Amino acid sequence: MSKTILVYATRWGATEETAQEIKKVLSENHNIKVDLVNLKDKKKKENRNPDISPYENIIIGISVAKFRWAKEGKKFLKKNKKALSKKKLFIFVSSGGAGSAYQQKNLEEYERLQKKWIDNNLDKWGIPFTSRKAFGGRYVGNHSHLGDNRDWDQIRSWAEEVGGIISNGAEV
Ligand SMILES: Cc1cc2nc3c(=O)[nH]c(=O)nc-3n(C[C@H](O)[C@H](O)[C@H](O)COP(=O)(O)O)c2cc1C
Repeated sequence: MSKTILVYATRWGATEETAQEIKKVLSENHNIKVDLVNLKDKKKKENRNPDISPYENIIIGISVAKFRWAKEGKKFLKKNKKALSKKKLFIFVSSGGAGSAYQQKNLEEYERLQKKWIDNNLDKWGIPFTSRKAFGGRYVGNHSHLGDNRDWDQIRSWAEEVGGIISNGAEV
């Protein structure tokens, strides 16, 4: 069985919870063990630059806020650019904007934001990916939007898709 790591960069925790749910689905429904790494874990400096050489499957989750990616996510992709091109890369973002468009069934806007936050960044660096998804997030503090607009069925359904690809080697 190929090895799987899920690395994530979160600011307020939504990406971490989404990552935990994906890990749960992969473990319970696909018997896939996932090593979970918080790239921003202050107590574990080694997490900032995890060794991905033992892993064939890399899942990365990145928080989107203030019109940009959490910087640890960007650093990880830049540092591992070459190695990643030989891996199966799955990527998701937590974006309140994308979550809101998805909730309102404004799929054109949702697709635009998904491209903006995922494809554009990866294409720019020439990093290919096997599957990608933009999820919602949780607005915190005194942000005018406030609230959680994640769709857990969407999250679990993507995890199922990822599980199928990892187990069968099937492409989307
Ligand atoms: C101050 C602030 C700024 C935000 N800016 C954006 C933004 O520019 N685009 C977007 O799609 N979502 C934005 N969001 C929503 C985030 O995507 C959401 O909070 C998400 O959960 C962030 O992931 P995290 O909780 O893992 O850090 C913002 C949220 C906050 C609190």
